[in-house]
Amino acid sequence: TKVAVLLGGRSSEREVSLVSGANCANALREEGFDVVEIDPAASDLSAALVLAKPDVVFNALHGRFGEDGCVQGLLELLRIPYTHSGVLASALAMHKQRTKDIYAAAGLPIVKSIVVDRKAAAAEHLMEPPYVVKPVNEGSSVGVFIIRKGDNRPPAELGSDKWNLTDLMMVEEYVPGRELTVAVMGSQALAVTEITTSLEFYDYEAKYAAGGSKHTLPAPIPEHVAAEAKQLAERAHVALGCRGVSRTDFRYDDTDGKHRLVLLETNTQPGMTPTSLVPEQAAYNGMSYRALCRWIVEDASC
Ligand code: DAL
Ligand code: MG
Repeated sequence: TKVAVLLGGRSSEREVSLVSGANCANALREEGFDVVEIDPAASDLSAALVLAKPDVVFNALHGRFGEDGCVQGLLELLRIPYTHSGVLASALAMHKQRTKDIYAAAGLPIVKSIVVDRKAAAAEHLMEPPYVVKPVNEGSSVGVFIIRKGDNRPPAELGSDKWNLTDLMMVEEYVPGRELTVAVMGSQALAVTEITTSLEFYDYEAKYAAGGSKHTLPAPIPEHVAAEAKQLAERAHVALGCRGVSRTDFRYDDTDGKHRLVLLETNTQPGMTPTSLVPEQAAYNGMSYRALCRWIVEDASC
């Protein structure tokens, strides 16, 4: 079986994808697949695919163009089976507000948010602090701001002209407490991981710098909360129409004796670096990284 691993790409998560993709490609070679690596930023993707004639595409892209339905649409047209979610689920999950519309329709718990352009988000408080401002369609916490209680106005950096001021931003109520994540494989939640960081929040640096964050698996939370998080992640996967592997991120507010879980987002192309959350949860369930990559390939369709 010939597998084309797509990696890199043009998004702000390019570097993460290069690591995810190289590791998946190596694992698949070890599993006996004939593997080619294709970076859509370095070549004409459709021409490269027509030339390579893969039986399956392993999509290891993250972020825009790779995780948002664009590549999935091309693969549908070329009739090449591909891994992870299809066009619609990818597009919905890449847009944090559309994701929440789907969650809400499915009765899943979310917090209040609005979508405005960056200029509006930078001009004045659109919500009582604390709140969070994030691009609607980025991953890995790229461009996320936390506005704290007592901040007089949004941070100047938010309105800097190094950004595109027409970018759509989600202004979202800040949920105190802890960060949890649950991978779903097929229709089954794998485990609950708690992520803690010594940095200000679980931002890009915390995610990828050595020692920037700590994963605790299983999360040290009450059993009923873990069971609820798993069930909510499975329902999110189904509601969005995800396929293969997804990973849903939560806030868990346990301040003042509360047990409040809210969904933040679902990642349809979760990180696959050796220290990423999904491989860790697979290993926790007795599945090696290689076996996980094989499962993902065998689950591909179009
Ligand atoms: N967006 C990164 C790759 C993740 O969700 O793991
Ligand atoms: Mg994400």
